[in-house]
Amino acid sequence: MWILILLAALELCWAQYSPNTLPGRTSIVHLFEWRWNDIALECERYLAPNGFGGVQISPPNENLVVTTPWRPWWERYQPISYQLCSRSGNESEFKDMVIRCNNVGVYIYVDAVVNHMCGAAAGSGHYSTCGSYFDSGKRDFPAVPYSGWDFNDGKCKTTSGEIENYNDLYQVRDCRLVSLLDLALEKDYVRSKVAEYMNHLIDIGVAGFRIDAAKHMWPGDMKAFLDKLKNLSTEWFAEGTRPFIFQEVIDLGGESIKSNEYFGNGRVTEFKYGAKLGTVIRKWNGEKMAYLKNWGEGWSFMPSDKAVVFVDNHDNQRGHGAGGASILTFWDARLYKMGVGFMLAHPYGFTRVMSSFHWPRYFENGKDINDWVGPPSYEDGSTKPVSINPDTTCGNGWICEHRWRQIRNMVIFRNVVNGQPFTNWWDNNSNQVAFGRGNQGFIVFNNDDWNLTATLQTGLPEGIYCDIISGQKEGNICTGIKIHVHGDGTAYFNISNDAEDPFVAIHVSAKL
Ligand SMILES: *[C@@H]1O[C@H](CO)[C@@H](O)[C@H](O)[C@H]1NC(C)=O
Ligand SMILES: *[C@@H]1O[C@H](CO)[C@@H](O)[C@H](O)[C@H]1NC(C)=O
Ligand SMILES: *[C@@H]1O[C@H](CO)[C@@H](O)[C@H](O)[C@H]1NC(C)=O
Ligand SMILES: *[C@@H]1O[C@H](CO)[C@@H](O)[C@H](O)[C@H]1NC(C)=O
Ligand SMILES: *[C@@H]1O[C@H](CO)[C@@H](O)[C@H](O)[C@H]1NC(C)=O
Repeated sequence: MWILILLAALELCWAQYSPNTLPGRTSIVHLFEWRWNDIALECERYLAPNGFGGVQISPPNENLVVTTPWRPWWERYQPISYQLCSRSGNESEFKDMVIRCNNVGVYIYVDAVVNHMCGAAAGSGHYSTCGSYFDSGKRDFPAVPYSGWDFNDGKCKTTSGEIENYNDLYQVRDCRLVSLLDLALEKDYVRSKVAEYMNHLIDIGVAGFRIDAAKHMWPGDMKAFLDKLKNLSTEWFAEGTRPFIFQEVIDLGGESIKSNEYFGNGRVTEFKYGAKLGTVIRKWNGEKMAYLKNWGEGWSFMPSDKAVVFVDNHDNQRGHGAGGASILTFWDARLYKMGVGFMLAHPYGFTRVMSSFHWPRYFENGKDINDWVGPPSYEDGSTKPVSINPDTTCGNGWICEHRWRQIRNMVIFRNVVNGQPFTNWWDNNSNQVAFGRGNQGFIVFNNDDWNLTATLQTGLPEGIYCDIISGQKEGNICTGIKIHVHGDGTAYFNISNDAEDPFVAIHVSAKL
């Protein structure tokens, strides 16, 4: 009897906070703007074999087709209906992706855009990805259907109808965010339509949702539609499994809306994480890596078991959203790999890796004037497939950070050290730091402008280990630096500040 009660309690504890990834798979990757066909292939050929737990996908529902500017990435954040067709593919392609990824144990997390529909000035017609009619002026979206009654125009108290002041929580939640028509989620009808959309995706087999613009919805309204969600499909998940929920709430401190208001609904994106880590690794504002000793709650982040963390996301890598110039991205590859390496080695939070496309970044007066540019595409606007080069990197303009050796191997590191405590911290009071994860893994960074030479306690069993940053273990061969851990757990590290990647990581699965 008490076992049943314990199990029930565990169920309640974890519920929507559990990512639902397979045991031992501890990260997901955001395949931003990828086509469903390419994601299905990537699950089978790369993500499953390398221990990725899942994929956050771009919004799958019908959206406005924006032609000025030409097909920006942000058109997918302007819904027209909840039919499943977008530049990533149609409903049959979506289903095929979910089934194929699920069958190899890589689960799908949908970016759910349910705070709003398209912009107020979008106009009327069939300029939508499935060709459904809409009239933004009349608030008419017959393919859902939504009409004027289903929007917050009457509730918003600003004269412009827009959010004018982020310190007024009523404006932030009842008014239009950058002119996007704000849904009246206090209405049961609207909640039911949102839940119907999400339940359709659950029936197909998805494992959870990123809830876009959660800060712009009342937590109670969200709870009302989340409570209407089904359990996950028992074709792939245990009976009674709740969808994983993580909410996009940008809280860098200093505004009226706080992340903790949303903890009842699920996890929340911790935006302080990437902003602060970028500042430390760039050594701005007198920050240094030695200060990372109490990284996590010690930096006034939210509790680890509520946090989804990332170095950059699709917004802040191009100056949208929040975090500012400190955010590390693929554009600063050397620092970026260190940042992602630190994140994946550190126990705090549930980790999401970013996978981007290239765009012609061009700064004018400190702003990237090409921050709108959409995914690699053909003249007709259709998205280009992800091509794979002989050296396993991606072509056709896809960056594929998740395929970079250093990042992919750190995803595996995190799986190997899963559940192990944060141990054996060392620093030189500057930018040389190291820490272990119990007796399973150890990582050393040299972000100073001089060489690191130190004998450190690793906590690992005696042996010769292969550094998974400069290379990796292939059969019984190490293609990178070898590290000798002595019987007392110590090892000598020598990391040049000029190294291609000035950090070294070892774990028990890469022992020779
Ligand atoms: C989806 O797209 C594929 C490929 O273009 C096509 O073969 C298929 O018929 C489409 N399915 C639906 C339901 O439109
Ligand atoms: C989900 O599963 C649990 C446990 O089996 C059950 O109590 C609950 O009613 C289910 N919820 C829904 C919405 O079906
Ligand atoms: C950083 O560590 C090195 C040894 O790895 C040491 O020589 C140097 O003095 C340290 N710097 C500071 C500021 O402590
Ligand atoms: C550090 O490693 C380099 C290259 O592996 C080697 O040449 C150098 O002598 C080492 N330095 C020390 C102090 O161990
Ligand atoms: C740092 O290490 C590199 C590579 O081992 C070496 O070439 C360089 O001379 C070293 N620098 C100093 C200041 O010792």
